[in-house]
Amino acid sequence: MSPPLPILLLNGPNLNLLGLRQPDVYGSATLHDVVDLATATAAEYGFEVQSLQTNHEGEMLDALAAARGKISGIVINPAAWTHTSIALIDALVVPEVPIVEVHISNVHARESFRHHSYVSPLAAGVIAGFGVRGYEYAVRHLVTLVSQ
Ligand code: DQA
Repeated sequence: MSPPLPILLLNGPNLNLLGLRQPDVYGSATLHDVVDLATATAAEYGFEVQSLQTNHEGEMLDALAAARGKISGIVINPAAWTHTSIALIDALVVPEVPIVEVHISNVHARESFRHHSYVSPLAAGVIAGFGVRGYEYAVRHLVTLVSQ
């Protein structure tokens, strides 16, 4: 049997600064730790992870267009684009695969502008407020969905 298509792990703007940026909100783990955690979790199920973090919205849109037909599903922390980007939601539907949305912090306990997500209506599930462990849970859920 051929191996499953990889999981696309997307992290939006400023998440390159994880560990440095507002550690009281986002904790001390780095983006590297997050990618390692997602990769190790996916490997338990025989899935690979392709990871992209970018501060440039167009780069994420291009990656989603290029991923069509090449991935099993998407784990995404859209960061601030969660609350702003219609272009991102238009691109997220292009690969036609399940999406799990992750937020490290509990966005619902923060400023009201963080309470609305353009991405959530597209997502099979949303995880918020579990710290970086949320990425592990997101991968486990996604693998369950795409293995059905
Ligand atoms: C975030 C929450 C967003 O509101 C914020 O803009 C981020 C990170 C989170 O992981 O908690 O950059 O997505």
